[in-house]
Amino acid sequence: MINVGVVGATGYAGAELVRILTGHPDVNLTILTSRQYAGQPFESIYPAMKGLIGLDCETYELARVCDKADVIFMALPHKLPMTFVPDLLKNGKKVIDLSADFRFSDPDKYESVYQPHTSKELLSQSAYGLSEVFADQIKQAQLIGNPGCYATCILLPLYPLIKEGLLDTSSLIADAKSGASGAGRALSLTTHICEMTESFKAYKVTGHRHKPEMDEILTAAAKTPVDMTFIPHLLPMARGMESTTYASLKKNITSREIRDCLSDYYAGCPFIRLHEHGKAPDTAHVRGTNFCDIGFVLEETRNRIVIMSVIDNLGKGASGQAVHNMNLMLGLDETAGLHAIPYPV
Ligand SMILES: NC(=O)c1ccc[n+]([C@@H]2O[C@H](COP(=O)([O-])OP(=O)(O)OC[C@H]3O[C@@H](n4cnc5c(N)ncnc54)[C@H](OP(=O)(O)O)[C@@H]3O)[C@@H](O)[C@H]2O)c1
Repeated sequence: MINVGVVGATGYAGAELVRILTGHPDVNLTILTSRQYAGQPFESIYPAMKGLIGLDCETYELARVCDKADVIFMALPHKLPMTFVPDLLKNGKKVIDLSADFRFSDPDKYESVYQPHTSKELLSQSAYGLSEVFADQIKQAQLIGNPGCYATCILLPLYPLIKEGLLDTSSLIADAKSGASGAGRALSLTTHICEMTESFKAYKVTGHRHKPEMDEILTAAAKTPVDMTFIPHLLPMARGMESTTYASLKKNITSREIRDCLSDYYAGCPFIRLHEHGKAPDTAHVRGTNFCDIGFVLEETRNRIVIMSVIDNLGKGASGQAVHNMNLMLGLDETAGLHAIPYPV
């Protein structure tokens, strides 16, 4: 059994990690940290976990975390992990960070949208945790920068098509929608039920922080600079994410060839489910799981493709993918702990 800790366990991503890891056959969950709830049983904060987990939350102390755990998930807001992670690595720990702190390979890009990076030297050591795409790097890494939820949802269908040179990268428009848990558990007017229910709106339309993250990965895939249009929207629901991405095709291509490109690239990937041409995926079908469902429509007369993908922002978009990455890092069955069956309705 592997001893595992979750830092920031009481946030939405942290609590989802606790849920998944509680059912993981190879994991012994040994330490959960939180400042606000230190000393309180985790099940008193999330009563859904009543009788399933006996741990109390505690404040973060390096020596104690290192004593209790060999693999540490960081589920903190960005800016904090870069201060905690160097010491964890020095103590030989494997770290999967869910924040943006270790997602970028170029520190200037990180600093252009976040803040000065105090552990830049670690960026070249961290693997970008898009599990299916970078599995080889993830297996070798001690540190993972787990991708953003929008980035996961948008990159998974785009990456193979761009790598194969099928899309005109100057034409990319990603129109994505997230449930409110994407904003975290802290109270805010934006996610107040009275402000968001019966409502649907775009936000951060002049620049969301996941855009440069996606551009960096797509630029490497395309071997030419990619600067896509990305507009996020807030959905009046708790969890789930859909992205609809529009692109012009570089050449005449059939729907069969698009499907073959995706199915060949994701052959043997248990969490990627491809729909047949013209069938749209649904967030309800991936809720609580680590699946990414992908559909597309080819508009042959306009030489354009519309790609649709759905994930659970807390699952494949955060904690499910983080556990998948742990499984890859440790050489475990990659699906261990991730067998949740979607609700049929
Ligand atoms: N929500 C999503 O869908 C999603 C998806 C992908 C990635 N992520 C990333 O995952 C991370 C966590 O997101 P979240 O949505 O779970 O946020 P959240 O609900 O706001 O939770 C943040 C957690 O961090 C702890 N924390 C906050 N400030 C702290 C500090 N100064 N020192 C120590 N602990 C602190 C909080 O507990 P205390 O205040 O009690 O310490 C809480 O447990 C973020 O980096 C986010 O970008 C989230």
